[in-house]
Amino acid sequence: MKKIAVITSGGDAPGMNACIRAVVITAWQHDVEVIGFRHGFRGIVDDLNQPLHPDDMRLVSQRGGTFLKSSRYPEFREVARAKDAAKVLDAHDISALLVIGGDGSFQGADHLAKYWKGQVIGIPGTIDNDLAGTDTTIGFSTAVDTAMEAIDRVRETAEAMARVFLIEVMGRHAGFIGLHAAIASSAEAMLLPELEPQPKLAEMADAILQARSAFPDSSYVVVVSENLWPGGVSGLATNLSKATGVTCHPCPLGHIQRGGRPNAQDRILAMQLGHAAVHAVIDGKSQIMIGLEQEHVVEVPLHLTFERDKPLDPRLVQLQLGLQGVNFASKKGSKTA
Ligand code: F6P
Repeated sequence: MKKIAVITSGGDAPGMNACIRAVVITAWQHDVEVIGFRHGFRGIVDDLNQPLHPDDMRLVSQRGGTFLKSSRYPEFREVARAKDAAKVLDAHDISALLVIGGDGSFQGADHLAKYWKGQVIGIPGTIDNDLAGTDTTIGFSTAVDTAMEAIDRVRETAEAMARVFLIEVMGRHAGFIGLHAAIASSAEAMLLPELEPQPKLAEMADAILQARSAFPDSSYVVVVSENLWPGGVSGLATNLSKATGVTCHPCPLGHIQRGGRPNAQDRILAMQLGHAAVHAVIDGKSQIMIGLEQEHVVEVPLHLTFERDKPLDPRLVQLQLGLQGVNFASKKGSKTA
């Protein structure tokens, strides 16, 4: 009987459990045994193995996080760690490793492939959606839903008190969560790493003051991607408060965005990709990522997923920027921004 292994690696993402379920059940249907290693690559090196049986997969898809556990493990960049992992995988007679994770995890998988003869397949699982070669990643849709719900809640108190809020969302160095959350929550402004040129503090202050003068009794919400400003959203709030004379409230959403029950879209995506990954193993494929492009499952060379940048959809960027511009011009009776 062929034997394969699966890990979840890097930042967990809602839908990872559904993906493991699809991998385990599909594999068993094809007489392939599956074991997991807990805590990602660290768990391979330390041999934290866990047998995975379809009977145990019945009700895992509903849960956020990853029951297989995950970790950040920068030590895996070392050649010695990759060779250690190869030895453990060989000792278990594993012929293929499925890695559910983001770009750091795929770099780890690519590194391992240099020192291990087995097949290596990536499945995109990260809330950041920053992997090239796939329209979306497992967990992104749920994270956007979570951010939107949180911003809606902040909006209600902001509106009641006519306050300015700067809400920080995750994304490491990518603005996908920021852009989608800004559109979905009708934010007055957004700050994303991809926006060129970045708006200057004086421009942001000016926009806030114009909005306050047009709508003195209303809220003003800015969605800000993390890692953009020194001191994060708190630093920005301090500077903007000084520049405008209006108190700007910082609100970092943080890890709230990573947890929670995966939504239907993420569960379905996770199962599609997990199922296809097992078929890719059976077909003898290696060093690829299984992704989704225009609603079709695709196979992409693994290295291209992290070597290329993934741009934001320019139509969505323009949509949000256009809607932001109309907000206070309309108050003055003009239909144009
Ligand atoms: O996994 C993605 C992510 O949530 C990023 O959005 C964020 O920058 C990072 O992980 C946070 O990582 P950690 O939980 O290890 O601090």
